[in-house]
Amino acid sequence: MELFSLPTVLFLFLLSFYLSVYFLLPKPPKTPPPPPKGFNCYLVIGHLPGFLHNRHRFLDWTTEVLGRSPNNTAVFRRPNADGVLTANPLVVEHMLKTNFENYPKGIHFLSILGDFLGQGIFNADGENWKHQRKTASYEFNTKSLRSFVMESVKSEVEVRLIPILHRAAAASGTTNRILDMQDVLERFAFDNICKVAFNVDPGCLGGDATTGTEFMQAFEEAATLSSGRFFYAVPFCLQNQEVLQPRLRTQRFRRHCGCTRRWRSTPRLQVVPQRRRVPDGTTLKKGWFLTYSSYAMGRMESIWGKDCCEFKPEKWLENGVCRQEMPFRFPAFHAGPRICLGREMAYIQMKSIAAAVVERFELDVLNRGECPEHTLSLTIRMKGGLPVLVKEKN
Ligand code: HEM
Repeated sequence: MELFSLPTVLFLFLLSFYLSVYFLLPKPPKTPPPPPKGFNCYLVIGHLPGFLHNRHRFLDWTTEVLGRSPNNTAVFRRPNADGVLTANPLVVEHMLKTNFENYPKGIHFLSILGDFLGQGIFNADGENWKHQRKTASYEFNTKSLRSFVMESVKSEVEVRLIPILHRAAAASGTTNRILDMQDVLERFAFDNICKVAFNVDPGCLGGDATTGTEFMQAFEEAATLSSGRFFYAVPFCLQNQEVLQPRLRTQRFRRHCGCTRRWRSTPRLQVVPQRRRVPDGTTLKKGWFLTYSSYAMGRMESIWGKDCCEFKPEKWLENGVCRQEMPFRFPAFHAGPRICLGREMAYIQMKSIAAAVVERFELDVLNRGECPEHTLSLTIRMKGGLPVLVKEKN
């Protein structure tokens, strides 16, 4: 009696031949697949898994993706919200200047920040924005405002900031010598902006500071809650309407927010009214959002060259003079008709502080080798602050 039929024997022979070829022959070394050119995209849920996975490092994640993309632009897909994120100066110019009228902030995004910003200049479109911009531009360009700012910055530096640094430097050998410079500078800016906007000194950096500090903390909380709403609103289609606390809805908050100073960790989203192609060849479909990342743009090799991630302030100098960079390449203050109205004021603050502090103190940043984590808020902040050791110069 035959144990196996001929076809069975043949099949077993071929199978064993195939298995020995598969397992015994040497295989070419496996090379890891190249990283994707844009965001990893899945059916139906789009880029949501990537977004959730990288939420804690949203800015660095998007910078990596944009840096890998040949035109520094990437399509972003999430349920109910498709759009384009760019770090390409040509697209930024197209969006903020050449085609400004075609890219309003849009009703969706105005409503997300409405409880916090009301219908103030930051959160308005069309005629409402134009009217406020005209009035505010006039105010911001007056000599009297400039000298008021100079005076109040000078007094905040001499009467509050410098004594705080002296005290920290004198507290040698104790923990008081370590200062959180992020907190100090935020208090400085908050005092300054309240003086300019309301002619009220909240005294966050000096004095008893109880009322002012409470207001400042409420403001920061409002910004964090609003940015949470902002980040979640896109994928979950405005489900988070109730996260803001009732106290956000006061007029005072709204007016104050018109003057907020460190704006941008939340990308600025603009809704595309009809299908069109932007200058780097990317096609936008109707209803998509278009946004740029100024954080990523500060780190693009295509804009700044190979050493784009190295701290070299001298890069800005040309024959010993600070070179003016095109705002579409360096949009920290935005660009085009909606460029920041307070940038001169911000520079007055930054330069006055730098000049006064550098002359008299050495600030040693603790953990200087580590890259700080960011918090997701409307304005960019470092988790854990910026601890420094203060030393007096001889
Ligand atoms: C380093 C400090 C500052 C930075 C980085 C900055 C950045 C920005 C950015 C990115 C925008 C555009 C916001 C948007 O529409 O998406 C903006 C707008 C604006 N900024 Fe600033 N800003 C700073 C300080 C200030 C200060 C001190 C003031 C006023 C006292 C100010 C007043 C304004 C106003 C009024 C707008 C609205 C312009 C408009 O929509 O027409 N900014 N700023």
